[in-house]
Amino acid sequence: MRKLWILVTTWLLMSAAGQAMAGGGPSSRDTSRLEEGERIYQQYCASCHGSEGEGQPNWEHQNAQGELPAPPHGPEGHTWKHSDAMLYRIIAEGWRDPWNKTERLTMPAFENVLTPAEIRSVVNYLKTLWTPEQRRHQAEESEGAPFPSQSE
Ligand code: HEC
Repeated sequence: MRKLWILVTTWLLMSAAGQAMAGGGPSSRDTSRLEEGERIYQQYCASCHGSEGEGQPNWEHQNAQGELPAPPHGPEGHTWKHSDAMLYRIIAEGWRDPWNKTERLTMPAFENVLTPAEIRSVVNYLKTLWTPEQRRHQAEESEGAPFPSQSE
């Protein structure tokens, strides 16, 4: 028992050291990007889309102003139906439903607020709200329509 404990502790220490030496390998970097994505989501998106991504009430119907409310980002919404390129564009440039009775962008543009890397990380966070099936479908959609830039 004691031997096993030592083995486990040694393994934990070694993998921690390994990651520190590699300057945070790809997996630890992805995790930090996801955490960054969630932080950005809570700071900039949750006020409209809900802290759990649940969207606004009656999101499928125009409100009294003739505008569509903010939709949910989870399985019940349609965020997962858009490619990476499209999601990036909606967040960077803003969006309004063409049938809205007003002209304003009800989904605000974030290109002057978030960096390209931050937009990518918030999209990657949204992906954690989908079912595995939806994630697969969206990944296939994105093969021909990836994020516009892979640079920082
Ligand atoms: C001021 C409220 C508001 C904020 C803040 C906001 N959104 Fe939106 N968002 C909307 C509305 C309203 C829509 C629906 C627009 C329409 O279709 O008419 C929308 C639509 C979207 C869509 C398209 C979803 C779909 O199903 O087609 C995505 C993706 C999205 N928002 C992501 C984000 C992200 C990411 C953030 C934070 C960086 C954010 N939004 C912040 C109001 C907001």
